[in-house]
Amino acid sequence: MKTRAGQLVMNLVGILVGMLIVVPRTALADGPPPTPPPPANVNSVGIIGGPSEPGERLVFSGQVFAPDGLTPVPGVIVYAYQTDATGHYQADPETHVARLHGWAKTDAQGHYEFHTIRPAPYPSRNVAAHIHFHIWGAGYPLQWTPELMFAGDSFIRPEQIQVSAGMGKFGNVQPLMKGSDGTLRCIFNIRANTVTNYR
Ligand SMILES: [Fe+2]
Repeated sequence: MKTRAGQLVMNLVGILVGMLIVVPRTALADGPPPTPPPPANVNSVGIIGGPSEPGERLVFSGQVFAPDGLTPVPGVIVYAYQTDATGHYQADPETHVARLHGWAKTDAQGHYEFHTIRPAPYPSRNVAAHIHFHIWGAGYPLQWTPELMFAGDSFIRPEQIQVSAGMGKFGNVQPLMKGSDGTLRCIFNIRANTVTNYR
């Protein structure tokens, strides 16, 4: 017959095992959160925030290049996610997938494009507004890229601007340009690596 203390220990072990099984890796604290697979109909234009999503409309696009920085890579899955216009991810409590996320697959010229809204910085923090990217496919392993940030954001630190400038066409602090349709546009090119940085 089990003692009361023994039963408590067994209950605790059961709870801990259950947590290990059902709770995915903590988003951001231990690296990138889980990367959901793309839908079957993924193409080079992805939707993160549809027309009914509150916020300033934003279209960002770019090319994925091979490690040489010159050769466009078709067939790469680009997964991007972001905060909403209030700075919240509103991530799914079980999967930790941000509410605003989407996929694109680079076309023959390595191009991708996303339609969304401009993300806001985290509330009550001094972190610049940003968009996260994971890429994989076409022979490249799952990896995360630098976060895209927007020039003029007062939370961007001088060293972040310096690092971005040093990356040339792969810089991750990019200007936003507003077109006559009122939509903000931004270019972000990605260099794929042959080795993952995803732990
Ligand atoms: Fe973030």
